[in-house]
Amino acid sequence: MNILVTGCYGQLGIALQQIAADNCSHQWFFTDIDTLNICDFNAVERYFTANGIDICINCAAYTAVDKAEDEPELAEKVNTEAPRILADCCKQHQSTLIHVSTDYVFDGNSRHPYREDDSTAPFSVYGKTKRNGERAIQESGCNYIIVRTAWLYSSTGKNFVKTMLMLGDTKDEINVVDDQKGCPTWASDLAQAIFVLVENYGKKPTHEIFHFTNEGQITWYEFACAIMEIGGKHCKVNPITTDQYPTKAKRPAYSVLDLNKIKSMTGMEIPFWRDSLEKCIEEIIKKNE
Ligand SMILES: NC(=O)c1ccc[n+]([C@@H]2O[C@H](COP(=O)([O-])OP(=O)(O)OC[C@H]3O[C@@H](n4cnc5c(N)ncnc54)[C@H](OP(=O)(O)O)[C@@H]3O)[C@@H](O)[C@H]2O)c1
Repeated sequence: MNILVTGCYGQLGIALQQIAADNCSHQWFFTDIDTLNICDFNAVERYFTANGIDICINCAAYTAVDKAEDEPELAEKVNTEAPRILADCCKQHQSTLIHVSTDYVFDGNSRHPYREDDSTAPFSVYGKTKRNGERAIQESGCNYIIVRTAWLYSSTGKNFVKTMLMLGDTKDEINVVDDQKGCPTWASDLAQAIFVLVENYGKKPTHEIFHFTNEGQITWYEFACAIMEIGGKHCKVNPITTDQYPTKAKRPAYSVLDLNKIKSMTGMEIPFWRDSLEKCIEEIIKKNE
């Protein structure tokens, strides 16, 4: 199959490049904004035609959650309008769109892990534009798989794990919120899960949403403590409340995603968050040696 990956310089895009290097049975096309701007319908259409794209994995997004509150038009263009463009091209070419979305489509008031069919009610600009992107894809009539994930990190790019390790080197003490619960996701595990979906569903007519994170649930404070411990940092982490750490965009207090659907429909086993965190930190330490 000919597989197009957009946003390939991002955390997930790079993780998919590593998977592709080990899976030569497909022809992979890796693009980012410098080679394929997904907001440009004509460019996307030309790319599909020229390369006979069977599957498009959309890793491109506007991911700056707080900045999105000040740049709603740009966030909407990349997170809502561009997925509509990709979906229209997929419909035109009978291709399948695998699109990545977020736990921030939920309001966080649930007391049980969110299932794929729970109602969405985002309150941040980022969450709303991502939810509208999902809807645009569903309304397009193309074959699609939407994978919602959360708290993504990797050894590349900017993320919570790398920020904590850096703070661990420069601060004696930090405060981290302890009243927002979710589950971290190592980009390499998500990339592997997406590859399993590619192998399982290929170009079959599919209209599915799946949730994927690592297993378990923790707060940002607990996550920070684990990062300091595994990374060997002697920085004290103090638990604080969301009220004590105001941010421009409000985050869901609870955004644990229910993983039963992807596990039962694919048979995949999902690593526990701490095991994956250890692997990622090992990778980061090796890179810095
Ligand atoms: N990061 C998280 O914690 C998190 C949590 C839940 C869900 N997700 C979702 O997971 C997916 C992957 O996230 P990520 O963390 O890997 O994102 P990322 O690291 O921010 O990467 C996104 C990539 O898309 C590129 N891009 C932006 N606009 C584009 C355009 N118009 N055309 C083509 N490429 C464009 C970005 O380029 P620039 O860097 O130049 O803008 C960047 O290389 C996204 O859909 C995101 O919403 C992420």
